[in-house]
Amino acid sequence: MKIYLPRDAAAKALGAEAVAEALGAEAAKRGVEVTLIRTGTRGMIWLEPLLEIEIDGQRHGFGPMLPRDVPALFDDPTVHPRALGPVDDLDWMKRQTRLTFARCGVIDPLSLDDYRAHGGLSGLRRALGMTGQQIVDEVKTSGLRGRGGAGFPTGIKWQTVHDAQAPQKYIVCNADEGDSGTFADRMIMEGDPFTLIEGMIIAGLAVGATRGYVYLRSEYPDAITVMNKAVETARAAGVLGGDVLGSGRAFDMEIRTGAGAYVCGEETSLLNSLEGKRGVVRAKPPLPALEGFMGRPTVVNNVISLATVPVIFERGAQYYADFGLGRSRGTVTLQIAGNVKRGGLFETAFGITLDEAVNDLGGGTATGRPVKAVQVGGPLGAYLPASKFEAPLGYEELDAEGGLLGHAGLVVFDERADMLEMARFAMEFCAIESCGKCTPCRIGAVRGVETIDRIAQGDGAAVELLTDLCETMKEGSLCALGGFTPFPVMSALSHFPDEFATAKEAAE
Ligand code: NAI
Ligand code: SF4
Repeated sequence: MKIYLPRDAAAKALGAEAVAEALGAEAAKRGVEVTLIRTGTRGMIWLEPLLEIEIDGQRHGFGPMLPRDVPALFDDPTVHPRALGPVDDLDWMKRQTRLTFARCGVIDPLSLDDYRAHGGLSGLRRALGMTGQQIVDEVKTSGLRGRGGAGFPTGIKWQTVHDAQAPQKYIVCNADEGDSGTFADRMIMEGDPFTLIEGMIIAGLAVGATRGYVYLRSEYPDAITVMNKAVETARAAGVLGGDVLGSGRAFDMEIRTGAGAYVCGEETSLLNSLEGKRGVVRAKPPLPALEGFMGRPTVVNNVISLATVPVIFERGAQYYADFGLGRSRGTVTLQIAGNVKRGGLFETAFGITLDEAVNDLGGGTATGRPVKAVQVGGPLGAYLPASKFEAPLGYEELDAEGGLLGHAGLVVFDERADMLEMARFAMEFCAIESCGKCTPCRIGAVRGVETIDRIAQGDGAAVELLTDLCETMKEGSLCALGGFTPFPVMSALSHFPDEFATAKEAAE
């Protein structure tokens, strides 16, 4: 009997280990031989732990599983009360275009053989036959843009590093996934780590870098363990090291752990932290592409950007570029979270609307109350009301609606959300996480909390002050933390003005 069960942190948090134990015990009791393969997650978090049994060559899902559901699996699994049918036929799976996440939840994350059997390393083999410039051109053609938040064209970033002259260059992967409601980086690292490694090697070949680092947040212990094991395995198999796949080319990498500061997700602060310094933002220019890690030209890319590179080389840049909308090419890895019935990861071509993502796929709120707002793009993203739900998800398209796609996390709120409180939370978050380097953010965020408190106490004149303060923070902050905090604050104020006015009326 061949059984698959995720070992992803979300599945574990929902009881996967207890299910694995129950499986072992029941199999021993019945004298049945079970091959248990631990995988990443398929991304349907509301069904976790989602166990899969191979029946007639097809993987059938059962979930969410409890240990007490295990014995019945050994009778007739097709009539099991938690039976969902073939996993690939589930609506959530069928409607996706899984390119970056094609293997996640399917393979054993630490089996290089499994990885190869599912197309792994074919992109790297192709890249090994190309010049650095050809690799850069391929990435440009694909239209891939930075998935960390800013959406900068990856090929252009690589071109800058490729053209820079230096004795040493670096590839740094930003795995400091700190945005609320986001988990795509963690999922791919835990579910398909070799794809990130392969993407980093291809980036190294493109720009002439022989060394890479993954800056991974300490809050992700499972991802740290999986990534470290995957790097060791890749090195032992000759995928990493002085002779990548027997090509005579060198690339090696290591995993470094961050200590839990949100601002270390900002690239220059990350580089300081990686160098063992305090995680304070550096002024740009110089760009990290020219003077990055240890002052050398450095590609700093997000996990999803790098993990998408192998499929571009495996299938071809044009194949990837054919998906999407406008200047947003390829797929977006939506993370649907918050007060939502069906949360999880959904990979699809850019262009899907918020309404489809939240109300159709997500099934509306978990509480059953009407959706009031969705915060798109993490704690620095705008709160979008239902009137904006027809907006298609694309970098420019969302920008036109006053939103920010960011790392593509969607956090859903129902009608009970207090938007003045949410605006205050954004300012408070910024005050706590500010690195302190520039005044608009360091002082502005503290004053912002005080000003919102004044509004809450009925001081209507403070609304103008808040607007002015937000403008100063937006224009005068050195990095996105101070510069983008006005987005959630001002979106709450402009889309839900009554709640700010009600505070005033209530005080009167
Ligand atoms: P940015 O717009 O300053 O730069 C974007 C990227 O392009 C950077 O890597 C920059 O170094 C690079 N770049 C710009 N011009 C270049 C050139 N000519 N050659 C090579 N590289 C070039 O944006 P920034 O400040 O790096 O990031 C802001 C974004 O980060 C925001 O959209 C925000 O949503 C997002 N963010 C994401 C977080 C997360 O946890 N994923 C946390 C905080 C912010
Ligand atoms: Fe530091 Fe905030 Fe200024 Fe960014 S905006 S450099 S986090 S003080």
